[in-house]
Amino acid sequence: MNSTKIHFYVNDKAVETHILTEMSLADFLHEKLGLTGTKVSCGIGICKACTVAVTAPGARGLERVQACIMPVSALQGYRIITIEGLASGNTLSPQQLTVLKNFSFQCGYCAPGFLMGITLMIDHLKRNPIKKSDMHLFIKENMGDHICRCSGYNKYYEAMNEILLKLE
Ligand code: FES
Ligand code: FES
Repeated sequence: MNSTKIHFYVNDKAVETHILTEMSLADFLHEKLGLTGTKVSCGIGICKACTVAVTAPGARGLERVQACIMPVSALQGYRIITIEGLASGNTLSPQQLTVLKNFSFQCGYCAPGFLMGITLMIDHLKRNPIKKSDMHLFIKENMGDHICRCSGYNKYYEAMNEILLKLE
C-alpha cells in the first residue's frame, strides 16, 4: 500500500504525518486523531452525516466535504473544521445551542452533519448575504440532501431559520 506525507490543519491544530494514500478523511479523523464526532452512515457520499468544512490553501471561505469519500491525501495544506471545532472548550456554539433548544434531533447520529451544514451556510451568508424572504429556499437547497433517519426535519428547519435569520 502507498503512503503519503500529509500536512494540514484540523480545528486549528497543525497535523503532519504519513498516511495510507487511499485512507478516507473520516477514517483518519477517527483512527489517527480520535475525533469520532464526524459520523459515517451511508459511506458513499449521499446522506451527509459525515459533513466537514474545509478551506483550500490560499482560499477564503468554507467548502463542504463528505469525509467518508474524501481521501486525506487530497487535502494537503487544507484547513479542516470538524464538529469538535465548533465549541470553545465546554462552551457550545450558538448554533449548537439553538439546535439543542429546538429539540431538533432524536438519536443524534445525523446532528454533527447538520451542524456542519449550518456552519457552511453561516459562512456563505456572511460573505454573500441574501434577502430574508429567500432564506427558506436557501436552506432547502443547502440542506435538502441531509438525511435524518429519525425524521426530525421540521425541528431542524425551525432551528436553521432561527440561526440564519439572526445573521446581520
Ligand atoms: S456517511 Fe458520508 S455522505 Fe453518508
Ligand atoms: S436524529 Fe436520528 S438520524 Fe437524525
